[in-house]
Amino acid sequence: MLNGKKVVFSGVQPSGNLTIGNYLGAIRNFGAFSEEYRCFYCVVDMHAITVRQVPADLRRRTYETLALYMAAGLDPAKNTLFVQSQVAAHAELGWILDCFTMFGELSRMTQFKDKSAKNADNINAGLFTYPTLMAADILLYQTELVPVGVDQKQHLELARDIANRFNGLYSDTFVVPEGYIPQNAMKIMSLGDPGVKMSKSDSNQNAVVYILDSKDDILRKFRRAVTDSGCEVCRGEGKDGIGNLMTIYSCFTGKSDEEITREFSGRGYGDFKTAVGEACADGLAGVREEYARLMQDKGYLEEVMRTGAASASAAAQRTLGKVRRKLGFVTL
Ligand code: TRP
Repeated sequence: MLNGKKVVFSGVQPSGNLTIGNYLGAIRNFGAFSEEYRCFYCVVDMHAITVRQVPADLRRRTYETLALYMAAGLDPAKNTLFVQSQVAAHAELGWILDCFTMFGELSRMTQFKDKSAKNADNINAGLFTYPTLMAADILLYQTELVPVGVDQKQHLELARDIANRFNGLYSDTFVVPEGYIPQNAMKIMSLGDPGVKMSKSDSNQNAVVYILDSKDDILRKFRRAVTDSGCEVCRGEGKDGIGNLMTIYSCFTGKSDEEITREFSGRGYGDFKTAVGEACADGLAGVREEYARLMQDKGYLEEVMRTGAASASAAAQRTLGKVRRKLGFVTL
């Protein structure tokens, strides 16, 4: 609790262009919490450097990710929007939690195994301890609820284990957070292979729709989406491609599966794909415009960062002070 409100925390890495998967599965839903909860949304640039980044790109994407948060509807007056590296408490608690996390636990993290396979020439210690920094992000704010994608469930479980371990050793210090995976967990799949999650690192860029893609690109990508040899717009065995398009269409139009099936009955896949592309492009138009406007105003984005960092830092210091005292650190 923070000033009588439960706390929500989530983070997005500024490590690439965000896809409609990030938008529909995460960012778009963040705003819904702002009335009832005290919300912290963080651009996790320290997590991003676990893989090599070009400094100028990292800097630009940090602004971009913040601008996208705001363009997607997060009002900085109602949410604390901030950049992780601008609040030193994250690094401090990250180190402390390293000392309460076991080598064996971190070795079992599937994201670590995946990322080390992909970055075999740079399996650095930060990649290994990534989940403890994430636990620090969450635990610093006495977070109750963490909206995340399914792929982050294991990291969240670890954060809970670390919190429980610390609380057990030093008496109650951290709130033990719950993951919040949206009920209808909008998992958006690749347009090229509906068996895998849509990911910015897909080697087939036609299979990935970015929030900032132009309308033409969006329409083209949906026209090329892999489907099946049938012609009915419905879910079913072997129809994962169509099912994925139905999910996306439904996210942008609010229509149910039955309504969609009825709408496209007898019309074939071509019409449907065009309609999904149109709905997606139109649904994102407002976000794209607002984003472009915000990116013209670095001064304003920096002001949001500054206010956000100050407010996050004040909240984080309360937890960090408690942790320092319990550990036996001398505080002057
Ligand atoms: N690891 C998350 C991801 O890649 C990003 C993240 C970092 C995060 N810290 C967090 C998410 C804290 C939720 C809470 O998606």
